[in-house]
Amino acid sequence: MDADLPELPVDPPEVLRKRRSAKWQTYPADVLPLTVAEMDFALAAPVAEALREAVERSDAGYAMAVPGLARALAGFAASRWGWDIDPASVTPVTDVGVGVVELLRLLARPGDAVVISPPVYPPFFDWVPEAGARLLEVPLAHDATGWRLDLAALETAFATHPAAYVLCNPHNPVGRVHTAGELAALVRLARIYQVSIVSDEIHGPLVLPGATFTPLLTVPGAAEVAVSVLSASKAWNLAGLKCAAVVTASPRMAAVAGRFPPDTRWRIGHFGVMATVAAFTAGGPWLDQLLATLDRRRALLSGLLSQRLPMLTWHPPEATYLAWLNCAALGPDDQARERFLGRGHVALEPGLRFGAAGSGYVRLNFATSSDILDLATARMAASLPDAPASNASVR
Ligand SMILES: Cc1ncc(COP(=O)(O)O)c(C=O)c1O
Repeated sequence: MDADLPELPVDPPEVLRKRRSAKWQTYPADVLPLTVAEMDFALAAPVAEALREAVERSDAGYAMAVPGLARALAGFAASRWGWDIDPASVTPVTDVGVGVVELLRLLARPGDAVVISPPVYPPFFDWVPEAGARLLEVPLAHDATGWRLDLAALETAFATHPAAYVLCNPHNPVGRVHTAGELAALVRLARIYQVSIVSDEIHGPLVLPGATFTPLLTVPGAAEVAVSVLSASKAWNLAGLKCAAVVTASPRMAAVAGRFPPDTRWRIGHFGVMATVAAFTAGGPWLDQLLATLDRRRALLSGLLSQRLPMLTWHPPEATYLAWLNCAALGPDDQARERFLGRGHVALEPGLRFGAAGSGYVRLNFATSSDILDLATARMAASLPDAPASNASVR
């Protein structure tokens, strides 16, 4: 990737506040929201163009996802990751959540255990019971070098024969990009203990400079036990348009996806399919610019935190635009989050939503402008108990 790529522009907060989506509508106007995983950048031009053209055609009927979506995803995966997807093995779904839940309904019997690794994207805690299964938590391992899958603990859990493991690859909220070696070890365990893996790869396109994404299905032996769910919705900011794809690479897993309720094909967003096809086929240059921009925001945030909030600790993410900040120095549970919101007027995701391991943490979304990050960290610093009074008025 070209380090000299120009940054993506971001509108000022007063313009962003006109957006009707959750990020900019949840909090009052005096709060800076760095919460839900939406980005503040303008849409990629090919995506905006596809949506504009659809409106001009009054093209707002039901989605016709096949074969366009499958071909677009296969083309993107081949050129970006060297991953050869058979378009016939792609099943379009409404969103990643729907894909994971429908898969778990078929892979687990009622009451079966399904393993997840907190701290993890909060809906994982809901998707498992929604599918009628029982949660079995195997937290990530954490040490001074960062977060990773706890393969020894996963083996102990897999030995009790859970039906499935929901992998977050890369892992939200810690931003970890699991290595090819770690994924190979995971696949080995899954094959030994006959545990299916559902790999949520929504953040795959958002791997930042310095790390390499390994799609799970490219790991030798994974195809028999694993199925992946991908989407353009995080990397191109299309979450409200509702389109994702389940990918399989073996007859066994294709048979599972082949048993989705027939009506699921009518529940996919038509605008989502059109935007996703545009993103995967023509959105590569914009994605490169996005990754270069996020790389710089990650560095900026690092500097701002060490300067203004040195009591917070973190491992800069290898993927995503999410920073998982240890604020334990400011108190347990969600005390830091409440302080930053109540006194600093900066909204962050409360760590406890990501599981008990999130006590004392917040998740900060840095897919925004340098100005907003600057302002947000200044307000967070001004909210601290011993902040000088003159800082308290930072807006
Ligand atoms: C790991 C992960 N999976 C799924 C989603 C949501 O995907 P969807 O809206 O397609 O269900 C998110 C959103 O941030 C996420 O971080």
